[in-house]
Amino acid sequence: MDSSQIRLFYRNATAEAIGEEHGITHDQLERIAAETVPMIRRVNEQRKAGETPYRDLPYQTHVVERIHDIVGEVHGRCKNLVVLGIGGSALGNIALQTALNPFMYNLDDKQRRGPRLFVLDNIDPEQFGSFLRWIRNELDQTIFNVISKSGRTIETAAQFGIVCDMLIKELGQHSLRDQLVATTDPKEGILREIADRLNLRSLDVPDGVGGRFSVLSAVGLFSAAMCGINVDRLLAGAQDMDTRVKREDFYENPAAVNAALNYHFWNHGKRTSVMMPYSYHLKDLADWYRQLWAESLGKARDSLNREVHVGPTPIRALGATDQHSQIQLYREGPNDKLFTFLQVTVFEQDIPIKVPPDLPTELAYLTDRNLGELLNSEKRATEFALVSSRRPCLTVVFPRVDAYAVGQFIYLFEVTTSLVGALLNINAYDQPAVELGKEATFALLGKPGKDYAELDREIRGLTELDEHFLV
Ligand code: PA5
Repeated sequence: MDSSQIRLFYRNATAEAIGEEHGITHDQLERIAAETVPMIRRVNEQRKAGETPYRDLPYQTHVVERIHDIVGEVHGRCKNLVVLGIGGSALGNIALQTALNPFMYNLDDKQRRGPRLFVLDNIDPEQFGSFLRWIRNELDQTIFNVISKSGRTIETAAQFGIVCDMLIKELGQHSLRDQLVATTDPKEGILREIADRLNLRSLDVPDGVGGRFSVLSAVGLFSAAMCGINVDRLLAGAQDMDTRVKREDFYENPAAVNAALNYHFWNHGKRTSVMMPYSYHLKDLADWYRQLWAESLGKARDSLNREVHVGPTPIRALGATDQHSQIQLYREGPNDKLFTFLQVTVFEQDIPIKVPPDLPTELAYLTDRNLGELLNSEKRATEFALVSSRRPCLTVVFPRVDAYAVGQFIYLFEVTTSLVGALLNINAYDQPAVELGKEATFALLGKPGKDYAELDREIRGLTELDEHFLV
């Protein structure tokens, strides 16, 4: 096994570790393995048939070339990069940045290899207003990367409109061409139309790749490359994982084992799935996973159109922070959770703990330890405590946090999601339940067309703050 590969450790989810009532027995694992192997084949066939184009993103060298070309054109005059997007058009960018650049990247010029990065991922007027007040003075040194596959996402459209208006007023019409990079559908949608009309620099969200599966496309790679992340290593890591997750030998395939265990525990009353990184760098990858898992697996109907209402609820926790917030519940509350820890073997930088002699002697045992050792000990201690309470635990082990490992992790969880979707017999690639809220927003804002007037009345009847029920 290559020492730079991430691994999945699953013993603490087994009956051997936590008992037969809550852990998976050897026989159960064998049965679920037999059920999973045909799903690996099915997912491999879907890929060959071109039904899951996200699987081929790690091999898109022409996309990387195009990204490097645009980076070459704008990098020298870009002090700030602002991503305008939401959901799958923002979370991957945030995750890559947190994972692969230093904590103080935006604030400390010496720790920065590219522009400052801002991914707002929202439309809060106070947050956006404060940001606009600050960025206004640096507009000519700012690139705005507007990302929307559909081009019709209302939050992104609103952000984009405000920014275009400010650019035109402050720098003139020509600045749109200079300061904007659009990432959108290659052919369709309003953002593509605008990009073509204004002759903007643009990148493609490939056909058939949904937002939450798009981080390894131009959606995530452009901001990463701008900010000095090695996108070639990221994709190489994903390719490495690809060779592992297409194997039909169950125990040689980490996505298959991960999917099978998640599916088993879902069927055995563990309806919540907690991902808990013990690494600040990995914190936002857990957030990215939360969207991937929730939008892909939370479905009302299976492929035979039967009502099923499936989907484990993903929760993000952070070690050691959430030991002081969640662990009481995790150990003594309902035993309805599967835990997935993310653990780092070697921290790029470690800090020795100093205990000067004039501090109380009880602290002396910390001398000659370091923070990485403390953090990893806390992970093991928490795992031990959960196992003592018969809670199933998995761990993804990162040899170190670098682009190669992060590329593996992303691909591992994307393919795991496809496999869990296949086991649950649902469509993991759509999100029909998101639509009603979008339509309702259009109705409330008076968008012309459809039956928006009627929908608007219905919404107001339900959501108007009725004095009678206000206390
Ligand atoms: O994963 C998804 O499909 C969604 O989260 C989308 O990424 C999100 O709704 C933004 O969509 P768009 O890129 O079309 O603006």
